[in-house]
Amino acid sequence: MSETGATPRVYARIAGTGSYLPANVVTNEDLSKVVDTSDEWIASRTGIRQRHVAADGETTGDLAYHASVRALEAAGVEASELDLIVLGTTTPDLVFPSTACLLQHRLGANGCGAFDVNAACSGFVYALSVADKFIRAGAARTVLVVGAETLTRMVDWSDRATCVLFGDGAGAVVLKADAETGILSTHLHADGGKKELLWNPVGVSVGFKEHEKNAGVRIHMTGNEVFKYAVKALDSVVEETLAENGLDRHDIDWLIPHQANLRIIEATARRLDMPMERVVVTVDKHGNTSSGSVPLALDEAVRSGRVERGQLLLLEAFGGGFTWGSALLRY
Ligand code: UT7
Repeated sequence: MSETGATPRVYARIAGTGSYLPANVVTNEDLSKVVDTSDEWIASRTGIRQRHVAADGETTGDLAYHASVRALEAAGVEASELDLIVLGTTTPDLVFPSTACLLQHRLGANGCGAFDVNAACSGFVYALSVADKFIRAGAARTVLVVGAETLTRMVDWSDRATCVLFGDGAGAVVLKADAETGILSTHLHADGGKKELLWNPVGVSVGFKEHEKNAGVRIHMTGNEVFKYAVKALDSVVEETLAENGLDRHDIDWLIPHQANLRIIEATARRLDMPMERVVVTVDKHGNTSSGSVPLALDEAVRSGRVERGQLLLLEAFGGGFTWGSALLRY
């Protein structure tokens, strides 16, 4: 309690970031030998030039581990200091235990709470929002938040409409309770009525049917419909975030968007009247890594020295569900 008797305000501040991409790179040129596509089509429609694909036996948990070790090092935090691990993924290693539990054990952080959040491509923003609430409520002081995926495991490599889009990767941040500044607000939304526009219809409880076993577990997407919905939803959540914080769109220093399609990113930047020099773009290097994409972009921007302490960052994401959300933070 403060001297006045009021509970002091606590923010969740990013103390360190980390990311990891598997070694194996597949270029647009490589894919044009497998399906009827071209570097020209993929680059002009999506901005993607290449993606990383996990090696046989390399799992979401492995990618999460490497990204987390880097984030802990950057934060100067030992795994044993963690109060909580929240991991966004839609491609967990196993049905259970959660990938967060597997990660906790491997990091040597045994004892703290650990759970996964499944919000498809919005997984990291959802996980960050949950972690922020734990810190604000005083239930945790040091939290590891991860977005990690091996989406290529459920890609149909014969479907040119989807196989060119996705890649594997992970990013992580360590949040610490801070009296001064950090995450200012988070905003989460979902619309479960649009599930068939972007989904993987195979599941545990609905049962694995014979024809699905043969067809394999794969992503189905009506790309142009998802595109339109994503642009509208992201416009709306950006407006909501600015209004909630009493900010003008010109107050934002950096936009750190979900990396699905450069044209969607440019549409959000236009809405913010933001020059592309203030937008972090990494989609060309790794395609859509789902939950991994926002923390991968954040880590690259931090490590390259572009994002500096004290700057105002707007993170946003959109994905299957549909789910979408944002986080505004003072880095
Ligand atoms: O992270 C979750 C959120 N996901 C997204 O945000 C993805 C949103 N959607 C998109 O990014 C875009 O819709 C795509 C990149 C998936 C597709 O771009 P588009 O400009 O919407 O193209 P389209 O689906 O309307 O297809 C246009 C044409 C079609 O041919 P016709 O019917 O015009 O003859 C497709 O068959 O492009 C064809 N096409 C391709 N051609 C060459 C589709 N995929 C390919 C391909 N190479 N890989």
